[in-house]
Amino acid sequence: MTGKKKAGEQKLWGGRFTESTDAFVEEFTASVMFDQRLYRQDIQGSVAHCRMLAKVGVLTENERDQILEGLEQIGREIAAGEFVWSISREDVHMNIEARLTDIIGTVGKKLHTGRSRNDQVATDIRLYLRAEIDRILSEIDRLQQGLLSLAEREAATIMPGFTHLQTAQPVTFGHHMLAWFEMLSRDYERLVDCRKRVNCSPLGAAALAGTTFPIDREYSAELLGFEGICGNSLDAVSDRDFAIEFTAASSLLMTHLSRFSEELVLWASAQFDLIDLPDRFCTGSSIMPQKKNPDVPELVRGKVGRVNGHLISLLTLMKGQPLAYNKDNQEDKEPLFDTVDTVFNCLRAYADMMPAVKVNEAVMREAALRGFSTATDLADYLVKKGLPFRDAHEVVGNAVGFALRKGCDLSELSLDELKIFSPEHISQDVFAVLTLEGSVQARDHLGGTAPNQVLAAVKRGQKLLQARGEK
Ligand code: ARG
Repeated sequence: MTGKKKAGEQKLWGGRFTESTDAFVEEFTASVMFDQRLYRQDIQGSVAHCRMLAKVGVLTENERDQILEGLEQIGREIAAGEFVWSISREDVHMNIEARLTDIIGTVGKKLHTGRSRNDQVATDIRLYLRAEIDRILSEIDRLQQGLLSLAEREAATIMPGFTHLQTAQPVTFGHHMLAWFEMLSRDYERLVDCRKRVNCSPLGAAALAGTTFPIDREYSAELLGFEGICGNSLDAVSDRDFAIEFTAASSLLMTHLSRFSEELVLWASAQFDLIDLPDRFCTGSSIMPQKKNPDVPELVRGKVGRVNGHLISLLTLMKGQPLAYNKDNQEDKEPLFDTVDTVFNCLRAYADMMPAVKVNEAVMREAALRGFSTATDLADYLVKKGLPFRDAHEVVGNAVGFALRKGCDLSELSLDELKIFSPEHISQDVFAVLTLEGSVQARDHLGGTAPNQVLAAVKRGQKLLQARGEK
């Protein structure tokens, strides 16, 4: 569809065009449907830019004040849901700028001096992501607090530890929670590190080459709370590394949450029955009245898929782009927004749910007993009595075979039965190591599963969280 330029629907960039934009192309190229989410940052960036222009004398104080007032009004209109977003104004930036001129007249047209949408949008995304990272960090923190409380409460609760999902050795439930805590600490650090590279100001790079006006980039960066300034104008407008980095860190975080989820789903099943999930985090079945489905962990487990997808989208979007800005970059927003929402919501669900998880202590204990989980302890015992480890391994293997045929646990064999397999090395004190409590207590070193080690690790964790709070 082609058409003559229509009066009143002039594009902000329409000067050199002789016909108006094809209606479908207008919709196809617009981003306002999704980038209006950046309105607060767009206004914040414009406020800083405007103040800077006045400081260097490009705007008068009076012009500055008119613009600031207009921007403030626009902020109120949007927050109140009164702002009319227009597709023909393409994106959040031009919707706001055009509205500014509607409100304050010609002075509004001066705001874009020494600026381009290219440095503007890069600024907006960085401001947005910086705030979202902070929200996500505090949600990780909240989940970690919950894990620490659970670990403290269940420091001595014994459960089967698994390798290959087969019962391996007894561990404490608190110790298991602290494994998750460790993963989240790394996720936290990665995001803190990524935030440093997000927190740089592209403002002043203008379209790509900088501007002829005597701008003060330090000043606008300072007003926006940026810690650094992007050092090259071409890179400043085209760099989206920070968004990719954030999404990569999110991907890994979601991978961790997905692993927790799988464990929660398994443990909550009738077959494992190690935990109960709070009813308010589960749903029923429309046909099977007995069902209580662990929907929240299942969804979290599944949602890693979309975040991994977003990471690939962003990497692919950037691949092969020549310097500097290209419209391709408009495609960065939806994956980024959805990554932020997904990560935040999953963390929120888990931070709310974890403190309410009920541990079925008796079932855990029984499950740990069932799988010959203290077999390694018997082998270690024999080694301490002088047998080389490989021989001890063999002896215990024979004893396990015997107990399997008899249908009982190692700790339920009599001393005489145990002695069949190593008469000189086994005596009455063997029973102390065959108990679950003896087994976990014996792993008493930094990072081990002994209850007092779990408590020590909880203390270290609390200190870590406290130190974060003080920063
Ligand atoms: N909506 C655009 C984006 O999201 C803003 C920048 C447009 N710049 C341009 N030169 N067309 O990337």
